[in-house]
Amino acid sequence: MAVLPIRRFGDPVLRQRAGETDQVTELHRRLANDMLETMREAPGVGLAGPQVGVLERIFVWEVDDRHGVVVNPAIVSRSRGTVEEEEGCLSLPGLYYPVVRSAAVVVEGVDENGEPVRLVAEDLLARVCQHEIDHLDGVLFIDHLPEELRKEALTRLRNEALGLPSTPMPRGAAEGGL
Ligand code: NI
Repeated sequence: MAVLPIRRFGDPVLRQRAGETDQVTELHRRLANDMLETMREAPGVGLAGPQVGVLERIFVWEVDDRHGVVVNPAIVSRSRGTVEEEEGCLSLPGLYYPVVRSAAVVVEGVDENGEPVRLVAEDLLARVCQHEIDHLDGVLFIDHLPEELRKEALTRLRNEALGLPSTPMPRGAAEGGL
């Protein structure tokens, strides 16, 4: 197992669409283990392939004492209800903004052994699934923000990249990166 470098905002790999995985192999099992270790070390509660430079449709998650790997995930149904909660991302460290997400989703895919997996996800796990599947499509959580907040987030990222001071982020209840 190995901790992999996490790609940061500005890395073009985060903006590309990851491709479907045709066959789950030993390489994917090794990748999944490395991704779980990388996520735990960060620490985070979810991590997607592109965040470690792998353009395949795979993500790992860990919420409370449950964890898992989903390859080729698809949201097959979602609740009508939505919730707005503060969200962060391991690829955009230090940024936290409220994002509206479906309150519950059902995700289907296969696990690291190629076996079918079905996640009935609510609360934080629902948020993690939606955030990580976005990553597989090159979408970042700041893309969901209203224009004003999105601009503010981009200014913060630019200032950070230039080494300029930025007003501190009023950090709320975010529970680790995604
Ligand atoms: Ni993320």
